[in-house]
Amino acid sequence: PVPVVAIDGPSASGKGTVAARVAEVLAYNYLDSGSLYRLVALAAMRAGVALDEEPRLAALAATLPARFEGGRVWFDADDVTDEIRTEACSAGASKVAVLGAVRAALLGRQRHYRRAPGLVAEGRDMGSVVFPDAAHKVFLTASVESRAERRYKQLMEKGLPATMESLLQDLRDRDARDAARSVAPLLKLPDAVLLDTTSKGVEEAVAFVVDFVRN
Ligand code: CDP
Repeated sequence: PVPVVAIDGPSASGKGTVAARVAEVLAYNYLDSGSLYRLVALAAMRAGVALDEEPRLAALAATLPARFEGGRVWFDADDVTDEIRTEACSAGASKVAVLGAVRAALLGRQRHYRRAPGLVAEGRDMGSVVFPDAAHKVFLTASVESRAERRYKQLMEKGLPATMESLLQDLRDRDARDAARSVAPLLKLPDAVLLDTTSKGVEEAVAFVVDFVRN
C-alpha cells in the first residue's frame, strides 16, 4: 500500500507548517484535513445553512466544490485561501467537526489523497480514523503557552489585534472541545511517536519526522 505519514495534534502546534515541509522533503502528496472542515463551514455560511443542521451540512460536505492547487485553496472559481483562515471559519469548522455525518461525508475524499509515492496527512484523526493503517504516526504538540505565543506573533505580523490572554483562553477551549467530542476525539495513540515542539524550531521538527520515516 501507498505509505502514509499521519501527523495529528492540537491547534497552533505548528503541525501545518511541519507537515507541509515534510511532504516537500519526501516529495509526497499532502493533505491538510482541517481545511476541509473550514470549507464545510464556509459552504454553510454561503448557503445560509445553520452550523448544527447535520444532514444539510453532510450534504454540503459530500459535494464540496473544493480544489487545492498551487498552494491555494479554491471553492468553485474563488480563491478562499485567506477566507477559510478567518475567525468565523475557524469557529465554524470546530462546530461542524463534532458532527458524525459531516466527518463520514469527508472520509472518502480524504482517502483519495493517498496516491503514490506517499502521503503526509495532517489533522486530528489521521492516525485513528482516516488512515489507521498509516506506517508512521506522529503526535505533534507544544505547550499551550508556546502555541499561544506563536499565534500571537502570526497575528501581529498581519497587523491583527490580539491579546495573549484571549489567545490562551481560546486554545484551552479548543483543546477541550477537540478532546471531549464523542466522534474522533484528538488522542495520542499508543502507536504514535510524540513530537513536542515547545523548544524546537520548524527545521528541527521536520528533520525529526523525516528521520522517523526513513529509518
Ligand atoms: O489548528 P487549527 O485548529 O487552528 O485549525 P485546523 O487544523 O485547520 O482545524 C480546524 C478545525 O477542524 C478544528 O476545530 C478541528 O477540531 C477540526 N478538525 C477535525 O476535527 N479533524 C481533522 N482531521 C482536522 C481538523
